[in-house]
Amino acid sequence: MNYKIETIGCQMNVCESDIISEFLQKKGWQDVKDINQADIIILNTCSVRAQAEQKAFSFLGRAEELKQEKTNVKIVVIGCMAQRISQKIKKRFTKIDLIMGTDKTPVEIAAKIEKLSVKNTDDIFTNSGNDKKKKLDGKKIVGYFSIMKGCDNFCSYCVVPFVRGREKSFDDKIIFDKCFNFIENGGKEIMLLGQNVNSYNYNGLNFSGLIKKLASIDGLERIRFMTNHPKDLSDELIETIAAEPKVCKHIHLPMQSACDKILEKMNRKYTYAHYLDLIKKLREKIKNISVTTDIIAGFPGESKKDFDDTIRAVKEIRFGGLYAFRYSPRPDTKAANFDDDISLDEKQERLSAILAEGNEISAQITSEMKGKIYKILTDRYENGFLEGRTTCGRKVLIKGDENNFGKILDVLIKEVKVNALFGEIV
Ligand code: 5AD
Ligand code: SF4
Repeated sequence: MNYKIETIGCQMNVCESDIISEFLQKKGWQDVKDINQADIIILNTCSVRAQAEQKAFSFLGRAEELKQEKTNVKIVVIGCMAQRISQKIKKRFTKIDLIMGTDKTPVEIAAKIEKLSVKNTDDIFTNSGNDKKKKLDGKKIVGYFSIMKGCDNFCSYCVVPFVRGREKSFDDKIIFDKCFNFIENGGKEIMLLGQNVNSYNYNGLNFSGLIKKLASIDGLERIRFMTNHPKDLSDELIETIAAEPKVCKHIHLPMQSACDKILEKMNRKYTYAHYLDLIKKLREKIKNISVTTDIIAGFPGESKKDFDDTIRAVKEIRFGGLYAFRYSPRPDTKAANFDDDISLDEKQERLSAILAEGNEISAQITSEMKGKIYKILTDRYENGFLEGRTTCGRKVLIKGDENNFGKILDVLIKEVKVNALFGEIV
């Protein structure tokens, strides 16, 4: 069986698609890039912004067109839209074979998808499944692990609490075992995922405690995590990032806005002064830490002056990277009742201004890396090039051979381009 999995949205979705993919590959299924070659088309959806939902609708349009010609093709829809508006989707796209929301685990979903297969299973098991498994296990360097689900924060613009439900931390023993197995099978880096990992708590074990526990795994080289909430980022966690060599020196800390009036309307529960204080602490305690952020442009009631506060903050803080979005009203959220009073053109203008400023600063920071040596963990190899990341999360391409795949290398940065850094092993 050939399957194509298309993932829209956050790291959580990427992680869940990965688990489904791995499950299917262990059954001997083949992952294909081209939708035309797929027997089963899986779409993992996102509801965070209207644009993401539009993207899913147009993908489903294409999938259904294909099914018109190849009637055996199966279409599966999963993720946040499948949770939020499954009836509406099924009404509009009548050729969908399976639709399952975020209340099901990825393994439950994968098992259901497997049952859709039309070929007999004997065929699948003899279909070089074991070779594929070995190759996959041996080659995976970075693993994604959800440590919690849902969110209780109800930021006024955000649909996540409505589609992903209440926050629930997972059992640390299960997380530990999963990470341990991954490292046993050749993994080197783990990425811990949750909507707000800073509020992880399982029977009194907090996020710092979890990190310390996982860091004890022999052979594990790097730990990353996302995403964080400024209201819950503790001094203890900052100390842990500083003290634990396996924890990467990067933090994604969504600011959303630097205007206190807007932050309050967003229900973020911190002020800009608090946010700035966190940045200062992080930079004081953790040498060369990279801070990245999310910003929303054109939230209801954001005046030109409020927006200027945010631009000023972007200049003041100098983020290593920045994701910015035009505000998009989402159903069920509190902000959906606010007057969406900023025109689309104005939102776009503000978005462009933030991105221009943010990208210029990030480019300056990157250009300063030239001529310096960094530790790179290589997690991809293709056509004579190794790809890996610095502990700060910057992607670097290195000419080299397969023997250096999955290793931490000392790399001299030789060239800095817009989207990539090029280095040489020293
Ligand atoms: N409109 C625009 N951006 C949003 N985000 C979340 N909800 C919305 C929305 N309704 C952004 C926030 C969040 C990121 C994942 O997506 O910046 O941090
Ligand atoms: Fe959404 Fe806020 Fe929860 Fe993040 S913390 S998922 S922005 S409600």
